[in-house]
Amino acid sequence: MEKTLTTLLKNHRESGGNIISLLQETQDVFGYIPKEAVEFFSDQLGLAPSRFYGVATFYSQFRLKPRGKHVVTVCCGTACHVQGSERLLNSVKLELKLNDEADMTEDGMFTLEKVNCVGACGIAPVTIIDKKVHGKAVSEKIIREIRAIKGPRDAKK
Ligand code: FES
Repeated sequence: MEKTLTTLLKNHRESGGNIISLLQETQDVFGYIPKEAVEFFSDQLGLAPSRFYGVATFYSQFRLKPRGKHVVTVCCGTACHVQGSERLLNSVKLELKLNDEADMTEDGMFTLEKVNCVGACGIAPVTIIDKKVHGKAVSEKIIREIRAIKGPRDAKK
């Protein structure tokens, strides 16, 4: 990891980038911003870790935890809530065998995200699977989609 971080930092210095661009590049490489990266950059740049975490937690695009290979995003904003998104969310949790604290499956295949309004209230409830938007989503269809991603062997589990 240190070699990669050194390269990222070198590019960052050469391009005269800022903390945001450094964190973006880090996330592009690792899929999230590892704690080790923050510690390394903090050390090398002489900046407090809180400067990095401040930026990373301010912008919703940044993730401080690894993500699964596939991402299921269930909108639970008001319009979606009214249309039963909580029930949908619970069905997905059950299908992915996620307990209340976990948002990623043990095998790292799926991450489940709960968000507030994705801006498509007219087709509520909305679920997004790997950037594909499913409007007027019903549990059965979303579960079918997830099982299709899992593949025929896992689909029966
Ligand atoms: S509340 Fe779900 S799209 Fe707006």
